[in-house]
Amino acid sequence: MKNHIYIFPLSTIFQIAVSFSPSIIPQPDLKQMGSAANGAAVDMDTSTSNGSASVDKGVDFANYFCTYAFLYHQKEMLSDRVRMDAYYNSVFKNKHHFIGKTVLDVGTGSGILAIWSAQAGAKKVYAVEATKMADHARELVKANNLHGIVEVIEGSIEDITLPEKVDVIISEWMGYFLLRESMFDSVICARDRWLKPTGVMYPSHARMWLAPIRSGLSDHKMSDYEGCMDDWHGFVNDTKSYYGVDMSVLTKPFSEEQKKYYLQNSLWNSLHPNQVVGTPTILKEIDCLKVTVEEILKVQAVVSSTIVKEDTRLCGFGGWFDVHFKGREEDPAECEVELTTAPSVDDVTHWGQQVFLLHPPVRVNEKDDIQISFTMSRSEENHRLMKVDLAYQIKLSSDVKSKAKMHRSSSATTFRTSDEYFLNLLPPGKAAKPPPDDDLPVYNPISPNGSKEHYNSSRENTIHLIPLVLLLCGFILWFFSYPIDVLKDNHITM
Ligand SMILES: C[S@@+](CC[C@H](N)C(=O)[O-])C[C@H]1O[C@@H](n2cnc3c(N)ncnc32)[C@H](O)[C@@H]1O
Repeated sequence: MKNHIYIFPLSTIFQIAVSFSPSIIPQPDLKQMGSAANGAAVDMDTSTSNGSASVDKGVDFANYFCTYAFLYHQKEMLSDRVRMDAYYNSVFKNKHHFIGKTVLDVGTGSGILAIWSAQAGAKKVYAVEATKMADHARELVKANNLHGIVEVIEGSIEDITLPEKVDVIISEWMGYFLLRESMFDSVICARDRWLKPTGVMYPSHARMWLAPIRSGLSDHKMSDYEGCMDDWHGFVNDTKSYYGVDMSVLTKPFSEEQKKYYLQNSLWNSLHPNQVVGTPTILKEIDCLKVTVEEILKVQAVVSSTIVKEDTRLCGFGGWFDVHFKGREEDPAECEVELTTAPSVDDVTHWGQQVFLLHPPVRVNEKDDIQISFTMSRSEENHRLMKVDLAYQIKLSSDVKSKAKMHRSSSATTFRTSDEYFLNLLPPGKAAKPPPDDDLPVYNPISPNGSKEHYNSSRENTIHLIPLVLLLCGFILWFFSYPIDVLKDNHITM
């Protein structure tokens, strides 16, 4: 059977930001945090930590670092069992890398990795943290009797000075889809400045993955968009009839704006493995000992995947990452450890997966081949935000007729992700298992004004009807209260 090729260009932009909704935790006093935690933060000076454009440290602190100053946020990371187990095992199953060694923990947060390094036998641990969380880390170190070994230093890793070079750099720097947050730049900077030539990186390797997926999210998002446009049309009619102004000239720009928001955002999601419909493929492999910032400014790959499910929907692509603790070639780990954020039933992480949706989904079949051209680069406005461009072709394995409809999805689109970092985190230990179906609860993203929106499944929406139902029940009870009382009395007297 002759192969047919369909090309679907799909341009995706997703932004990476970190901010909490004010309803979740109190807003930080940025000025106070800035001045106390990082002198540079309120001075609004600049550095070139993203390897290309200059970065306003004050803005960076307000947008990015400030969230890490909350124990609430640190606790969410400390509750991620998969993450914790991987780091714990990597240290304690490879004590030979720590016993009698000097260690640098880049971005120590609560101090957990520095504490483990000391418990594993390190003779000195420098625990560097940019935010006021450093105070809590110091307390924790002292409470665990490790203040003779762990020295907590408050400041940016780019700015601080250590008295010596170190044998090990340990850090948990990974953002959504690995590179979101761009914190790895800081780890590279630390490595180049402070790691001995024989030193070891924890983790030592990282990979980005992409796979074709099916998901009910596509339909949810489309119906949200359609509902929003229905509402707009009502608004245009009302404005014309009540206030005498015809707003219909704004229909197209409003539709474009809402399309971007509802249909062209990439989303955080915790995918069930059943939702992966094609072979996962590696987009990028990183050797943490050797990689440069220039090499991670842009991730570009042309990869292919084969559909593994019979007659299914291709609703988009899911992206995730893994990191490995292998030591270095000349000084390998005794026990290699992997931390993966792949779709899983039991080992769910707070990173989840990033989902890039197609509108509409297309039908695919087992053995169809998809060639994907992927580019991820940093946003010009914020080096911690990413822009992704995806284009793909499908080579049909057979049954070409049933795929004819796929032409419909050939359109250029733009995606943008949420800034819901950690907001929707379910500690893996407590995470509800997603059903093995498309229709998972949906967590979304930012509203256009930047505040977080929790995108509910239909089940969750039903919850909002409870007060109404209770009110209705109350009314019915009140209405029938007389006969009910009589019945009760009758019952008692009988
Ligand atoms: C993902 S958290 C990890 C915290 C802790 N190591 C853990 O594993 O639980 C990253 C931490 O690094 C800090 N951080 C990020 N960039 C930094 C930099 N350039 N200098 C110092 N600290 C940084 C953040 O404030 C945050 O507390």
